[in-house]
Amino acid sequence: MIMHKVTTLNQFIIERQAEIPGATGEFSRLLHHIGIAAKKVHREVNKAGLVDILGKVGSINVQGEDQQKLDVYADKTFMDELRASGECCGVATEENQDIVVFEEGLSKDGKYIICMDPLDGSSNIDVNVSVGTIFSIYKRISPIGEPLVMDDFFQPGTEQVAAGYVIYGSSTMLVYTSGNGVNGFTLDTSIGEFCLSHPNMQTPESGKIYSINEGNYVNFPVGVKKFIKYCQEKDEATKRPYTSRYIGSLVADFHRNMLKGGVFLYPQTSSHPTGKLRLLYECNPMAFIAEQSGGLATDGERRIMEIKPEALHQRVPLYTGSRNMVQKVQEFLTFFNNI
Ligand code: AHG
Ligand code: MN
Ligand code: MN
Repeated sequence: MIMHKVTTLNQFIIERQAEIPGATGEFSRLLHHIGIAAKKVHREVNKAGLVDILGKVGSINVQGEDQQKLDVYADKTFMDELRASGECCGVATEENQDIVVFEEGLSKDGKYIICMDPLDGSSNIDVNVSVGTIFSIYKRISPIGEPLVMDDFFQPGTEQVAAGYVIYGSSTMLVYTSGNGVNGFTLDTSIGEFCLSHPNMQTPESGKIYSINEGNYVNFPVGVKKFIKYCQEKDEATKRPYTSRYIGSLVADFHRNMLKGGVFLYPQTSSHPTGKLRLLYECNPMAFIAEQSGGLATDGERRIMEIKPEALHQRVPLYTGSRNMVQKVQEFLTFFNNI
């Protein structure tokens, strides 16, 4: 019988912890608890059709969006696990207007803070389409033992210690980086463990997929409109026309593009004049993963990770994916902004 060596997420993070400057067992414990919360959300997502967990709660979140039951469940589950880890002293999430500070027990001495989108792609929950969780980990900059300050959360993405996402798809995967490449773990439900399935993930330099909500076309910047037409033109050298793929769950669109090669665009629109996606818990973590897999992430002008946050729920345009394709979008934006 051939025995394949299986590396679980927990083994992997302990082996890798030495690569993170100043990291000790605390960082491993934190990721371990994120893994536990992900498994709990996986369990709920997978029985969504069977029990009373589909649909809206009847409330709206801080951003005026309907809250789904799974949004609320995921927010609470991750929050509870992060608090229980004792390593995280505060969290910013999509579902909470303000930061949530863990002041009790061991958590008050935690040195990490987390920004997270507990349930990404909410509009897809009720129709059995992939959803996700996105997280970003920073070391607090205020002294341990003192109250957290907003500047702990307003660090640019370049300061991320680690970032990742969970995709609840045809299988559930946890993908993360701590600045030494990107690794993906698939949940083996028979043993209840995330197992290393995608070591050192690299995104192709170019691809054939463009992902954008074309329903917003008339309001896009002219550079984006021209880029879409470029994607649709025939050209053998660059293998155009490209293929359009858009799920409407950032995690799922990003994950597919990272594996296959492609570009994801969410520009400013009339309903979202500064873009829709949130810098702290959607764009920064995805940007870290994009760059660590060889790709890029910009807001059309600046590297996402160099933007200094000014508000917890700040929105920015996002162009991310294969290096050559993001650069091409950038060329179009620059050219048409300047004529
Ligand atoms: P969330 O469900 O966390 O609010 O995020 C939804 C986001 C993101 O997942 C996706 O890329 C985008 O909204 C889709 O927006 P449109 O429906 O406007 O295309
Ligand atoms: Mn989201
Ligand atoms: Mn969300």
